[in-house]
Amino acid sequence: MRVLVTGGAGYIGSHTAVELLEAGHDVVVVDNLCNGSEVALQRIEEITGKGVDFARADIRDREAMDAVFAKHDIDAVIHFAGLKAVGESVGKPLAYYENNVNGTLVLCQAMEAAGVRRIVFSSSATVYGSEAPVPYVETTPRGTTSNPYGTSKAMVEKLLEDLVVADERWSVTLLRYFNPIGAHPSGKIGEDPRGIPNNLMPFIAQVAVGRRDELTIFGNDYETADGTCERDYLHVVDLAVGHLKALEVAGDPGISVYNLGTGQGISVLEMVNSFTRVTDVPVPYRFGARRAGDLPAFWADASKARKELGWVAEKTLDDMMTDTWRWQSGNPEGYR
Ligand code: NAD
Ligand code: UFG
Repeated sequence: MRVLVTGGAGYIGSHTAVELLEAGHDVVVVDNLCNGSEVALQRIEEITGKGVDFARADIRDREAMDAVFAKHDIDAVIHFAGLKAVGESVGKPLAYYENNVNGTLVLCQAMEAAGVRRIVFSSSATVYGSEAPVPYVETTPRGTTSNPYGTSKAMVEKLLEDLVVADERWSVTLLRYFNPIGAHPSGKIGEDPRGIPNNLMPFIAQVAVGRRDELTIFGNDYETADGTCERDYLHVVDLAVGHLKALEVAGDPGISVYNLGTGQGISVLEMVNSFTRVTDVPVPYRFGARRAGDLPAFWADASKARKELGWVAEKTLDDMMTDTWRWQSGNPEGYR
């Protein structure tokens, strides 16, 4: 297949491009580089020994997207491009709806015009909202999202559902990711946040490499085993393989939804301790106040992906820590 990967110069997109190329697919990347790097694309080529066609373009630019579809005979789209900082989205809702919702709208219009009706979308566990029973299961309806980022994901899911209702030729797969971490085992590509990391794993890695003094653990008075929040962390390479499976197995017309997670909750404190145990590098931390909007604990029921896609998260927490550290210690300033 020739696959258009939007956001392919970013964290999850670059890892997915590697898995696609290694499985024999061709990859075309569209990215405006607002949070991605062209170096990531070079590294993908180093890892796989294969070329990536790259168009520096914005998915909201209809002319540019039409040109991409005219130039390449695309079979399917994996759609990662979007903004993803939960906190930032609260202050900039218009930017988030513009990029994530309107961006997807324009992308789908360009796909429709080109006769490409197969899309795999990067959704998030956040669409279950705060009331859903844990573990989250796909049969639970979307809940009330608590920030514009989450709402934009829920809106795009709905937009794509409506598309399938209107035209049964469309094939839509919604992948709801839990907490992707880690890096490619080569150490050549990984997560490279700009500015202060919002997420736990890159923050731990930057403290370990000396870019930040200490980690603040947001809250240790939750009703969990050790008082810190629990999440379902999965290795980004497993997540990338999940996209490959979705593309190869779930290609029938209609809509399908899958959780991609390990099915296991790990606490913040356990994360810090395992990083130090595996890498032997200390991570100074202190306990701080709870972060607004955080839920105490959630993880995936990942049995549907196992049954229908034949996908399971295979890598261990130790793999996640080892690979994060190989990437961060080899690239202390990321791609810069
Ligand atoms: P990322 O920021 O590393 O990658 C996104 C890429 O999209 C970047 O390279 C960026 O430059 C590009 N981009 C953004 N807006 C664009 C636009 N309008 N046109 C063209 N390119 C654009 O993020 P990521 O962690 O790789 O996440 C990928 C997707 O997965 C996002 O949609 C995100 O919301 C979703 N997701 C991520 C997580 C996570 O924890 N990382 C969890 C759930 C869902
Ligand atoms: N945490 C800290 N200190 C930090 C950063 C995070 O203690 O410096 C804690 C958080 O409070 C939380 C846990 O680490 O308890 C994980 O936080 P992340 O920000 O890494 O991940 P979240 O679960 O909050 O958010 C992730 C994605 C979102 C997505 C959400 C739900 O980043 O895109 O999962 O799927 F919406």
